[in-house]
Amino acid sequence: MNAPALDPIAAGRDLLARADALARHSDSPDHYTRTWLTPAHRAAALQIAAWMREAGMAVRTDGVGNVIGRYEAAVPGARAIVTGSHYDSVRNGGRYDGVLGILVPIACVGELDRRGERLPVAIEVVAFADEEGARFQTSFLASRAHLGKFDTALLERRDADGVRFDEAMRAAGLDPAAIADGARDPASIAAYVEVHIEQGPVLLEAGMPLGVVTAIAGGTRHRVTVTGSPGHAGTVPMAMRRDALAAAAEMVVAVEARARSVPGLVGTVGILEVANGTGNVIPGEVAFTVDIRAGEDAVREVAQRDVFAAFDAIAARRGVAVAAVRNHAVRATACSPRIQDLIAQGVAAVGAPVRRLASGAGHDAMVMAEAAEVGMLFVRCGAGGVSHNPAETVTQADAGLAAAALLAFFRGYR
Ligand code: GLV
Ligand code: MN
Ligand code: MN
Repeated sequence: MNAPALDPIAAGRDLLARADALARHSDSPDHYTRTWLTPAHRAAALQIAAWMREAGMAVRTDGVGNVIGRYEAAVPGARAIVTGSHYDSVRNGGRYDGVLGILVPIACVGELDRRGERLPVAIEVVAFADEEGARFQTSFLASRAHLGKFDTALLERRDADGVRFDEAMRAAGLDPAAIADGARDPASIAAYVEVHIEQGPVLLEAGMPLGVVTAIAGGTRHRVTVTGSPGHAGTVPMAMRRDALAAAAEMVVAVEARARSVPGLVGTVGILEVANGTGNVIPGEVAFTVDIRAGEDAVREVAQRDVFAAFDAIAARRGVAVAAVRNHAVRATACSPRIQDLIAQGVAAVGAPVRRLASGAGHDAMVMAEAAEVGMLFVRCGAGGVSHNPAETVTQADAGLAAAALLAFFRGYR
């Protein structure tokens, strides 16, 4: 006899209500922003832990604030399907990015627990504390720490308010010396599966609620500093200026032009800061970020070389200095064909069409792929596919269907 399906309508309603409740834990009263180890972030962790316990999981929290819930297998101590996503956000972000991948598996486990049903594998839901890295410009801090790959050089980094990373940890009640203690043994992981809002328009355009991810694009992020000569906006003749912002503006356009030259390559400048910016002062120092991504690493690497060569040429022509620091680099990641097929079976089991697609956004699955075979289930994004923005949305029906499909995947996993 087939196992009963979870009720997608009730599950979808509860999932969206929980996403709303969690979004109230925000660093800002005006919009949804939740960055690593702020009071709102700590409160969200407590709420997630409470939901995990309510769903029948044993819960622990590790040294960087990851919340890990385990639903034991039929034979205690068996390997686990690890599933989850992140509960930090970008500034002024969308409430489903990351959070959906925590709430959906908690709903699945709650259903198994209500039925007293145990599977051949355990299920571990990991709520990763920091993926976006908005506070300390980190890169997959939480999933790296989960695998024992935390970079201790980060301990000295400072946030925009000058708070040191290790001080932020102590203020939140975490011990920097204990980060390594929580590292997990890859042998304990059967597979890693992440549910995530698509964050783009592909499923929406196709009229399909769910997608099976084939691969995740690789990316790099740099912080670039341009140094020219500050001066009085009224007195320095144009030919004598070394304007850092005008140079940076050309560089921004160079990123865009290079990224536009190849399909599948994308380049973004998301932060541009003018040091001591004032309307009547020639900018002397400017910092900006460059995010470059592509499905193929070779395409991205060549583009990155070209972009930095263009920066050097612009700087030389304008008599300014340019320097760059890399703070994120991740290679493109293939999802396991076996896990893709098992997720596809889960999608088909709930009567949804199976659509395979690549992910342009980065995910914790990229780091978890270093320890286990990985797969991802995408959920259709509404509002034209907008994400990293408060307009990001999913429907109750799609969220509920994702929960039913993930539960079918868990039950079908061999
Ligand atoms: C993560 O959200 C990313 O930037 O892709
Ligand atoms: Mn994101
Ligand atoms: Mn995300």
